[in-house]
Amino acid sequence: MKTGERMASTQGTALITGTSAGIGLVYARRLAERGYDLVLVARREDRLRTLARELEAAHSIRAEVLKADLTSDEDMRRVNQRAAGEDLSLLINNAGIGGYAPFAEVDPVLLEQLVRLHILAPMLATRAALPGMLARGRGAIINVASLLAFSGSVPPNPLPHRATYAGAKSFLVTFTRTLAGEVRGTPVKVQVVCPGMTATEFNGGYRGAMTPEDVVTASLVGLERGETVCVPGLEAADAVAALEQAEAGMRQGSKPTLAARYRTPGNA
Ligand SMILES: NC(=O)c1ccc[n+]([C@@H]2O[C@H](COP(=O)([O-])OP(=O)(O)OC[C@H]3O[C@@H](n4cnc5c(N)ncnc54)[C@H](OP(=O)(O)O)[C@@H]3O)[C@@H](O)[C@H]2O)c1
Repeated sequence: MKTGERMASTQGTALITGTSAGIGLVYARRLAERGYDLVLVARREDRLRTLARELEAAHSIRAEVLKADLTSDEDMRRVNQRAAGEDLSLLINNAGIGGYAPFAEVDPVLLEQLVRLHILAPMLATRAALPGMLARGRGAIINVASLLAFSGSVPPNPLPHRATYAGAKSFLVTFTRTLAGEVRGTPVKVQVVCPGMTATEFNGGYRGAMTPEDVVTASLVGLERGETVCVPGLEAADAVAALEQAEAGMRQGSKPTLAARYRTPGNA
């Protein structure tokens, strides 16, 4: 090693998307405090540079800036290349936008961007990072979903104007839970975080919402405990197990024979 060169962090490198604001920025600060080197990803490069300078000065870490628009194929490729790096020990797919609008009126271009940002980018970054993590025998992947993944059709207010956002977040929940089954028995952990309303730029810093600091605390404590589905504001943690049991009941209750209610024609 040359004089003046820093040793790589023993924690390895955390690549976090959406670090120019909100929850992603808090993950970056928290992980810098824990001694992780960082790759900071978002579109607003000026904010990332300021954060990188601040974290490098305050902690003995290296913070790289990777300006990327995660709705673009080319930028996704660059991020995925970095996510496949040998130093990577933590991938946090956090970048997101709401894009709420009545579905019949919303610009189809925005819908495609939502799917790219919330589904394609996290899935492909996971695909890029996971083989190296498995080979090295260490690593974790965190996907930031939302409580809306579970509440799209819940009465009394079935959350209009969020069909694609809620659907994309449901993808992240199912994707992560299914992947958790696949990596069980390896040292690699996967987690999906489902925050409720959080006070960030996302919703104009909504008062009475959870702080992004609390969301990140829940995620990191939950990860250490091996929790796959982390719902930061949920006191009754057994609700997640109850949901899984209800799903298992549906699956096991489904037979290869047609259910009786479909054997007589309806009135439609
Ligand atoms: N706030 C809530 O109430 C809430 C609740 C549940 C779940 N969530 C989820 O939590 C995650 C973080 O949200 P937040 O509340 O922290 O929002 P935020 O404060 O608005 O931050 C969003 C981050 O995502 C980045 N981003 C957005 N579009 C991007 C793109 N095309 N390419 C790259 N980066 C992009 C933004 O950076 P640039 O604009 O600089 O690119 C920013 O750093 C999101 O996935 C969101 O869906 C939020």
